[in-house]
Amino acid sequence: MSNARNQGRRVLVTGGAGGIGAAAVRRLANEGAAVAVLDLDEAAAKTLADDITAAGATAVAVAADVSDPDSIGPAVDEAAAALGGLDGIVTCAGIAKSALVHEMSVEDWNAVVGINLTGSFLSVRAALPHMLEAQRSSVVTIGSVASLISANTNTCGYDASKSGVLGLTRSIAVGYADRGVRANTLCPGVVDTPLARKARESGGVTSSALAQTPLQRRAEVDEMAAVIAFLISDESSYMTGSTVTADGGLTAQ
Ligand SMILES: NC(=O)c1ccc[n+]([C@@H]2O[C@H](COP(=O)([O-])OP(=O)(O)OC[C@H]3O[C@@H](n4cnc5c(N)ncnc54)[C@H](O)[C@@H]3O)[C@@H](O)[C@H]2O)c1
Repeated sequence: MSNARNQGRRVLVTGGAGGIGAAAVRRLANEGAAVAVLDLDEAAAKTLADDITAAGATAVAVAADVSDPDSIGPAVDEAAAALGGLDGIVTCAGIAKSALVHEMSVEDWNAVVGINLTGSFLSVRAALPHMLEAQRSSVVTIGSVASLISANTNTCGYDASKSGVLGLTRSIAVGYADRGVRANTLCPGVVDTPLARKARESGGVTSSALAQTPLQRRAEVDEMAAVIAFLISDESSYMTGSTVTADGGLTAQ
């Protein structure tokens, strides 16, 4: 589906080269936004941005590690300069590592929390000065059903990081409501992406969550991109501080 509801928007998508992020990039570009594809995987980000540019839309690729303040800050500034500003950010960069608490290494804990939670904070922190210059801006953070329930018994770092994303997002929503910045979280259920496949193979994040999903299937990435594009757009203008689930009914039980 194509419409122009995000025409003129300038949106940065972290983790934009893969999975849900890449689908969001395509959807936003299809709806008229200029997009910055920010990812650790520089080659994949460039391939996607080139693809979108070849199709006649505006896209740039920027390489960065969202968990590294020295990397993400300059990359966000570079993206804003290339797009002529920023009025949207989607924080899709994320990883999952599975272990029960007593088996979780500090290295793995720090990696998961560092990318999923601190990375979201650092990305939005770097984007906010640009977004405050715009008339109206929208932050979309990516949580998970793990923000709300512990659907598996061995995802302590993931659950903690994704719960933290909700608090961060509410803080942005309340703190910047009077300055034209909205912030909402999308909590996906089990989505068919490389991250979910890897977690499934290791018996991790998505293995029992899928079995408990009333719709009895994984989501397609485009089903997440549709919600992200809505939250970025003015169609969601009265929504801020909201937690939006798109989880096939998993958390409704
Ligand atoms: N797939 C699911 O079932 C599911 C469910 C709920 C939530 N989520 C969340 O959605 C988001 C996207 O997940 P996905 O399934 O599309 O994952 P994915 O692995 O398919 O894509 C993640 C992208 O983030 C990039 N990335 C990873 N670490 C990075 C870093 N430090 N800096 C910059 N980029 C980095 C990767 O290169 C990749 O392109 C994640 O936050 C994930 O936790 C996914």
